[in-house]
Amino acid sequence: MKRVAVLFVCLGNICRSPLAEAAFRREAERRGLEVEIDSAGTGGWHVGDPPDRRAQAVARRHGVEISAYRGRQVRPEDFHRFTHVVALDRDNLADLKRIRPSDAMAELLLLLDAVEGRRGKSVADPYYGDDADFDLAWADAVAGARGLADLIAGGG
Ligand code: 4NP
Repeated sequence: MKRVAVLFVCLGNICRSPLAEAAFRREAERRGLEVEIDSAGTGGWHVGDPPDRRAQAVARRHGVEISAYRGRQVRPEDFHRFTHVVALDRDNLADLKRIRPSDAMAELLLLLDAVEGRRGKSVADPYYGDDADFDLAWADAVAGARGLADLIAGGG
């Protein structure tokens, strides 16, 4: 299989994209997929920060430790380094289209494009929400990770 590298991108890189990164790391490991995986934010407010405590907590409830993750901001070069750039919501997707270099080869998609019946949909931002909103973000991350792994394992 050709080299695959996946970057998950949300706004702050402290809630949704770390959850997508964690869910996809676990899914790739389960399936024995050799994939480089990272996450980033379109915004720069949380560069160097660990994930939001509520994101850490929901991941931990599902057996995944993300406290060592650190926020970083997406860069145009990421479109060369990664084969798939995966936006968590439609605003992130629009921002990524703006910063994508014209010669970039990376496939740009929404996470939920990989999920049957959710094409074009956003993972809702849980930052101003409560634990239930983080549960929803985790569920979307897991569904997206499975769909994306199917896509990639199928050569997509
Ligand atoms: P995320 O959530 O994009 O899922 O990481 C947010 C985190 C921080 C902010 C907004 C959304 N913020 O405005 O600082």
